[in-house]
Amino acid sequence: MNFEPNRAGRFPRNEIISLLEVNRRYNLAESTSQDLTFGELVALAGGLSALENLNLGYGSSAGSPRLRAGIAGLTGVDAQDVITMPGAAHGLFLLGMELCGPGDEAAIASPCFSPSRDALAGTGVTLRECRLAFDDGYRLTAQALAPHLNSRTRLVSLATPQNPSGVRTPLHELQAIAEMVRRLAPQAYLFIDETYREATYGEEPTPESAARLGPNVVTGASVSKAYGAPGLRIGWLTVPDVGLRERLTIAKMNSVISCSPLDETLAAIVIENRDQVLQPRRKLLAGGRDMVKTWVASRSDRLEWVEPDGGALCCLRLRPSVFDREGVRQFWAALPDAELQLGDGAWFGESSSVFRLGFGYLPPERLSAALAALSTVLDKLARP
Ligand SMILES: Cc1ncc(COP(=O)(O)O)c(C=O)c1O
Repeated sequence: MNFEPNRAGRFPRNEIISLLEVNRRYNLAESTSQDLTFGELVALAGGLSALENLNLGYGSSAGSPRLRAGIAGLTGVDAQDVITMPGAAHGLFLLGMELCGPGDEAAIASPCFSPSRDALAGTGVTLRECRLAFDDGYRLTAQALAPHLNSRTRLVSLATPQNPSGVRTPLHELQAIAEMVRRLAPQAYLFIDETYREATYGEEPTPESAARLGPNVVTGASVSKAYGAPGLRIGWLTVPDVGLRERLTIAKMNSVISCSPLDETLAAIVIENRDQVLQPRRKLLAGGRDMVKTWVASRSDRLEWVEPDGGALCCLRLRPSVFDREGVRQFWAALPDAELQLGDGAWFGESSSVFRLGFGYLPPERLSAALAALSTVLDKLARP
């Protein structure tokens, strides 16, 4: 057999994969709320005995009726419109596999969660990136997206709130985008990634899902971020178009057969007890966001930021007037010794002078110590 260990694979390598291997003391690279524990989940279920008779046969390819009903309640669609997925990530992967191939085009808003781009790249589709700018607060409009659409477009992909910036696109703008896609790219579906939708701050209301914006709109989300349960690997797609739903259910059958019935049951329990799970995490998110806001204001000599609308993350930029190329390199090189971890803008299709800072994952005392450690790094590196 002829092994070619260095041959490039179907998907581009992205250093975001290191997030799954490295977990430093001051981990500001994570994008989730605080992890839910199995013990908390069992307590929500009413004790382990509630799970004892769970049958561990295969589930169904569309997903468990109980979980699909829970997701329908969150998104406002019929339960039959929902397909469960092993994470929103698998949903966006299958959507790309099913809709895109060589000769087709896909339009994506970037910077973005890297698999949203790289999973599509693996299909051979021609990618057209609508690049959003830090200086414009990463605002996405129908007008900015329009030049990237045409009759060859098969998929338009965006996230709200965005990863890495936490910037939200309001429902009326999403509606305008959905209508524009119908007009300019009639063969395309619009994928709206709502993975951070429920990660709101404190008592702020949860924005309505985009799941009912029309037959060409598919949404995706999961219990990974707002609920702090990425290890369950349970997400979903809402797919009102019957034909596409059938294709995606078959694609799921051919890739994973079904989700794990245990994971689906646990995810259903999370969703059925959503207020209890979300409330403390939203309070922590609000506190984390406020702490970062105050800290950024105190470090405006070195940094600027785009204030997030939702999610457990935000984008900060090393001031170009203070950090030249070499300064940016030194900044990244200094982080490991300070036990710090941040998301590199380059992972998301941004410049490395921008970094993603997650404020939902660390407990408040650790977040405060992490920001102090980051201040020390900034002070050592550059003199304004
Ligand atoms: C915007 C976005 N979509 C999807 C995902 C995938 O999440 P999961 O597969 O855990 O549901 C992520 C994870 O970071 C994300 O940020």
